[in-house]
Amino acid sequence: MRLSVIGCGYLGAVHAASMAELGHQVVGIDVDADKIRMLSEGNAPFFEPHLDETLRSASASGRLSFSTDIAAAQGSQVHFIAVGTPQRRGENAADLSYVEAAVDALVPHLSAGDLVVGKSTVPVGTAMGVATTLAEAGTGATLAWNPEFLREGFAIQDTITPDRLVYGVPEGEAGERATRLLDEVYASAITAKTPVVVTGYATAELVKVAANAFLATKISFINAMAEIADVTGADVTALADAIGYDVRIGRRFLNAGIGFGGGCLPKDIRAFTARAEELGRGESIAFLKEVDQINLRRRERMVEMVVEALGGHVHERKVAVLGLAFKPNSDDVRDSPALDVAVRLHGLGADVVATDPAAIPNSHKLHPQLGFATDPRDALQNADAVVLVTEWEQYRTLDPVETAGLVHQAVIVDGRNVLDPKAWRQAGWTYVGMGRP
Ligand code: UGA
Repeated sequence: MRLSVIGCGYLGAVHAASMAELGHQVVGIDVDADKIRMLSEGNAPFFEPHLDETLRSASASGRLSFSTDIAAAQGSQVHFIAVGTPQRRGENAADLSYVEAAVDALVPHLSAGDLVVGKSTVPVGTAMGVATTLAEAGTGATLAWNPEFLREGFAIQDTITPDRLVYGVPEGEAGERATRLLDEVYASAITAKTPVVVTGYATAELVKVAANAFLATKISFINAMAEIADVTGADVTALADAIGYDVRIGRRFLNAGIGFGGGCLPKDIRAFTARAEELGRGESIAFLKEVDQINLRRRERMVEMVVEALGGHVHERKVAVLGLAFKPNSDDVRDSPALDVAVRLHGLGADVVATDPAAIPNSHKLHPQLGFATDPRDALQNADAVVLVTEWEQYRTLDPVETAGLVHQAVIVDGRNVLDPKAWRQAGWTYVGMGRP
């Protein structure tokens, strides 16, 4: 099929490359000329495992092209809207201006029978507005809403083999036709018996934010338990293992630590709260404000723990910060708890030297005041305290004996609870975990 993907950020670039990989003829469109140039050359503008290879093989096959010209969408049967919906400055609500601009730009290039598919995460009610715009412009195109559940670091895999597909479609013949077209787009997943939920616009929009709200709640729940564990001597990791064996609860997303960040979970729970308030149902999800507060408290607690571990002050003490990205296998520092902890420690006068396999350039752009080291040994050399804040494999597997030989003082604060306290203590370290004795 001929597909267009409007917006080539994280979601759009991955979607375009993956759809071409599946055999479709795809054009990716974005207003950012630098991004389009990089993508055309087979280089992802961000760190995502396997994306470069997928871009190159899809471009070489002749099935994938990129353009800054929206007219390139003309002739595609299906048009995906994959632009960003960031948090509005100084507010909780989502900024929908990119969605609106993309739809307005696309309208003159649509033909009757085309399917426009929203993939961006939007406040419930947005799709209905877009459908009205398409109808009032007399495009003859139908709208579907098809949220995306990809995780950074697994983006290609999650797109090609999703764990479920959700189609929000209008009622009647138009909806049935939209479903048939989407089944054709996702033919390989359909053949693999991927569950498909066909529903209306509002449900499809809500599924996405509800899923992220649930994940955020799960993380904040275990972090709340970590706060209680902290004052009782209980071990939150053993607690998570024990409750996680109950299949109704499950062990995933029960890792306590400095909490969640990134471009999705934090902004999505805030936008959801704002939308519920607009709808007069703020109380229904008022707990998400608590989820946000618990999450933000983790960063403060982490900084307090470093200060305590250094005997009450960090001024002019060298702190090695391991990790800057909001999670491993990513260079994304949007709302990153790791970067936030580094900035706060620097603010208290610590001599912060931070390292990360992928996120130094993005961190440097935002916080050039921090010290950075590409080689973790340079960060660790003569450090008075080591702080692990993003659980990259290379930090999880650090050797405590070897590392002790580099630092000035063997103090480690494990903000992700991924190190073995016994092994580190045996090697002479003062080990501090989050909600772990
Ligand atoms: C999240 C969702 O997991 C995806 O399903 C969704 O499609 C995506 O948002 C989106 O809306 O686009 P992502 O932002 O890539 O994906 O990151 P996650 O893997 O969910 O991690 C989010 C944060 O939670 C990270 O900072 C991670 O360190 C933290 N986390 C995760 C914990 O603190 N504890 C855990 O147990 C799990």
